[in-house]
Amino acid sequence: MIKRYILSGEDFSIAGEASSSFKAVLKKLGIDAGIIRRVAIAMYEAEINTIVHGGGGECEAEIEGNKITLVFRDQGPGIPNLDLAMQEGYSTATEEIRELGFGAGMGLPNIKKYTDSMNIETEPGKGTTVTLVINL
Ligand SMILES: Nc1ncnc2c1ncn2[C@@H]1O[C@H](COP(=O)(O)OP(=O)(O)OP(=O)(O)O)[C@@H](O)[C@H]1O
Ligand SMILES: [Mg+2]
Repeated sequence: MIKRYILSGEDFSIAGEASSSFKAVLKKLGIDAGIIRRVAIAMYEAEINTIVHGGGGECEAEIEGNKITLVFRDQGPGIPNLDLAMQEGYSTATEEIRELGFGAGMGLPNIKKYTDSMNIETEPGKGTTVTLVINL
């Protein structure tokens, strides 16, 4: 089963809706609560990053066999230094984004912590694709 979500970069007030909607899908399927929690945290953080840093994009969430795969795509500015971006506390969030409660620099480290695999493909000026896998 694949679910597709449009992640609008225009309206920050609806940021987080895709992850809560997919969480409800997993609950209905009777997926283990611990797995749902990990998926929800990782998906929420990646969704927010796509919206606030990537300017919006899309997410594909697939439940298939023994794993859940989440793919986030945007055509934003890209991430010039991935090692730096992965460090706890590193953030380029603007004052406006920080006022909304984002920008602690903990999203990517937490995504890494709560997933079984994380892959980021990014090119400055072109965009970013984040692929996450959580084993069932
Ligand atoms: N999709 C993206 N496009 C461009 N830059 C990104 C993207 N995702 C992350 N980044 C960069 O990586 C940095 C670290 O991301 P991370 O999610 O760890 O922290 P944050 O989003 O700044 O703060 P928090 O997630 O704690 O609210 C961001 O500040 C941003 O510079
Ligand atoms: Mg973040």
